[in-house]
Amino acid sequence: MKRTEIIDALRSTVFNEPINVRGWVRSRRGNKQISFIALNDGSTIKNIQLVVDLNRFSEDQLRPVTTGSCISATGILVPSEGAGQAVEIQVSELEVYGTANPEKYPLQKKGLSMEYLRTLAHLRPRTNTFGAVFRIRHHMAMAIHTYFHQHGYYYFHTPLITESDCEGAGQMFQVTTKDLYRLRKDEQGKIDYSDDFFGKQTALTVSGQLEGELGALALGKIYTFGPTFRAENSNTPRHLAEFWMIEPEVAFIDKQDLMDIEEDFIKFCVRWALDHCQDDLAFLNQFVDKGLIERLESVVNTDFVRLTYTEGIAILEAAKQKGKKFEFPCNWGDDLSSEHERYLVEEHFGKPVIMTDYPKDIKAFYMKINDDGKTVQGTDVLFPQIGEIIGGSVREENEQKLMDEIARRQMDTTNLWWYLDTRRYGSAPHAGFGLGFERLMLFVTGMQNIRDVIPFPRTPKNAEF
Ligand code: 4AD
Ligand code: MG
Repeated sequence: MKRTEIIDALRSTVFNEPINVRGWVRSRRGNKQISFIALNDGSTIKNIQLVVDLNRFSEDQLRPVTTGSCISATGILVPSEGAGQAVEIQVSELEVYGTANPEKYPLQKKGLSMEYLRTLAHLRPRTNTFGAVFRIRHHMAMAIHTYFHQHGYYYFHTPLITESDCEGAGQMFQVTTKDLYRLRKDEQGKIDYSDDFFGKQTALTVSGQLEGELGALALGKIYTFGPTFRAENSNTPRHLAEFWMIEPEVAFIDKQDLMDIEEDFIKFCVRWALDHCQDDLAFLNQFVDKGLIERLESVVNTDFVRLTYTEGIAILEAAKQKGKKFEFPCNWGDDLSSEHERYLVEEHFGKPVIMTDYPKDIKAFYMKINDDGKTVQGTDVLFPQIGEIIGGSVREENEQKLMDEIARRQMDTTNLWWYLDTRRYGSAPHAGFGLGFERLMLFVTGMQNIRDVIPFPRTPKNAEF
């Protein structure tokens, strides 16, 4: 018989007709006459109740039906008499696809810690929490593509293997086929990459932005959405070595337009979650983070604060005067750490902040320099619970100014000739930003650790699965 997904079975009103469902047993309880099986197939957070009449089934048939086992059940769909579900299935046929030894099955117990579940990344999608998170993750990816498609952006695929360090932070994972035990070096002791796969030193990308700019300066509006890699040795709840980033890049816009897009885009995504993930959000709101749905709604319905870095520093200064203690310094010129960002967002304003015009020395080489010569047109979005969720900027489109900045930073331009060409041939004002997909996921799910919003997290000393 054709399988019905549980999400559809639960909505069905075709009663007293045969139906077949397949999935993983969440629990089994009952007495000598009757057994109730809660079955889940991942199509929804909700289980369907299977009612098994023990006059029709032998002990032997039911023994392998334990928590975690996978079964196919055929029966009749009926309105449920019990509380908690609208329908149930009176089972006439049962087939066991795969057993799960109750002595050993690791998800037997409820209330396992997030840390422990990370060691079970191969099985944790079968829990309510992770099922909800990964369904929401899918919906957020759809939201992103929908937003850009509806607004006329083209999905532009930038390379994962590259020779340029966009952010200039030297956090790149090298890509090589060389035998690391027998590296050939030149007279100066430098590794000779000429016989390596690409004939030069290459690495995994830290951002698709530079190539994305090339796309925007031809197609007008593009976005990327792909894996991004950073060999950042920061073991925090907000950093991954492999994460997904969304990077729109738009020609002919200025800083105001850029901030408008950032705010509109992020609100669209959060609204999408509220509209498309109700059951999963309701679960997370009940069991993971009681303030979740309220927080999502408040972000959708509020205007983000827009303030300059300099104004932000003044607010932090004033807070320190009043006795607020911060772990890290925050004098003009310092990079803000997440405690500062969160103070502004959570305590001072109580809503998201778009911070602009940062000192040029704490930002990347490509940002447009303001007339003061000291600050650049960066536009980061800071979020409650998360800190920085978006990093963006207007790009320096003037060839000479860009070259001056590159020289000031003593950067090597050999690998950047193609980027500089765009400033030589038909350069145009343009701007863009990068949204960390898992940071958005943290916000939307209320989960506390970034390792729990991606199926298989990669962090320092951890690349299992
Ligand atoms: O601020 P970042 O470094 O900006 C860029 O890479 C720009 N090239 C983007 C652009 O303008 N096109 O990174 C952008 C965002 C951050 O705001 C953060 O949300 C996320 O990427 N991010 C990380 N997420 C998880 N783990 C990490 N290690 C991350 N590093 C950055
Ligand atoms: Mg940043």
